[in-house]
Amino acid sequence: MDKILVIGAGGQLGTELVSALQLLHGRENVVASDIRPESEVKMDGTYICLDVLDEQALHEAVIKHEISQVYHLAAVLSARGESHPLFAWDLNMKSLLHVLELGRIGRIKKIFWPSSIAVFGPDTPKENTPQYTRMNPTTVYGISKLAGERWCDYYYRKYGVDVRSVRYPGLIGYKSLPGGGTTDYAVDIFYQAVQGRPFSCFLQAGTRLPMMYMEDAVNATLKLMQADPSRLSVRSSYNLAGISFSPDEIYAEIKTHFPEFAISYQPDYRQAIADSWPSGIDDTVAQNDWDWQPHFDLARMTSEIIGHLTEQFQRA
Ligand SMILES: NC(=O)c1ccc[n+]([C@@H]2O[C@H](COP(=O)([O-])OP(=O)(O)OC[C@H]3O[C@@H](n4cnc5c(N)ncnc54)[C@H](O)[C@@H]3O)[C@@H](O)[C@H]2O)c1
Repeated sequence: MDKILVIGAGGQLGTELVSALQLLHGRENVVASDIRPESEVKMDGTYICLDVLDEQALHEAVIKHEISQVYHLAAVLSARGESHPLFAWDLNMKSLLHVLELGRIGRIKKIFWPSSIAVFGPDTPKENTPQYTRMNPTTVYGISKLAGERWCDYYYRKYGVDVRSVRYPGLIGYKSLPGGGTTDYAVDIFYQAVQGRPFSCFLQAGTRLPMMYMEDAVNATLKLMQADPSRLSVRSSYNLAGISFSPDEIYAEIKTHFPEFAISYQPDYRQAIADSWPSGIDDTVAQNDWDWQPHFDLARMTSEIIGHLTEQFQRA
């Protein structure tokens, strides 16, 4: 039985991925970790407080818990990275190399590390962005993810490390709050709508970006990690597509549930980041290699999130 360590488990994705991994592998086989104390993170199951930049502590945790697979999620995201570029580079790069080294020395068998649509830049084709294309990211986050992809490919080719990755679009869920990305508005808008408040959006009305409902993102992750390695032709990172929409499109969809809901637009520095990214992704390679298919469109995602959040706020 594989034993799994999730690094950065207390974040937006980790909160949901840990539960899914516990269901799949057994609660006792998943160790959630984050730099934050347990009291702040509130996870079910085994939890350890771990700074991934402390390489020795990471090695000790892997040995102590007999870890064979690592899901490495800790990172500084796109918007926050622009305020702390050197720190973002340091965390995003060093942490990945610490984990890849565990693979190289044979301490762990399999690694999942997420990349992002932030690897693309202003000269990338915006529509149906292909797997292989021009990639000149303009954010430190995008630069670190692109470099990370190259390191993953390098460790696979040079040392045979079984590392797998997807370029997530903006992730949208209702169980946890986002951690400083450019697509965070698409989570916040639901919280405001359900509480009957107007929403101020930090992107322009027509800014179309690739997005994905969290359930699809978690399923994609598990599916890729379970895929037959001989079918995987990409060891940098796979394009992954869900739903593309703009603030005015998601607003119109939410308005069908809350006709009084009001929105205003106050674009800030995140507009320039969004403008440098694609609006739609071609994920044919992921579809062919590991049978990837998303299940949520905008309407289905919107009614799911509104249903769950309404229940949450009624209980509170
Ligand atoms: N959320 C998205 O829309 C999105 C999109 C594309 C890619 N991704 C990628 O997915 C991964 C997870 O994203 P997320 O949205 O859950 O991020 P998040 O910011 O919500 O969570 C990151 C977690 O890492 C933890 N962390 C920070 N520094 C740490 C350290 N030194 N040691 C251990 N833990 C540390 C934080 O406490 C936090 O809980 C990231 O690699 C991110 O780049 C996310």
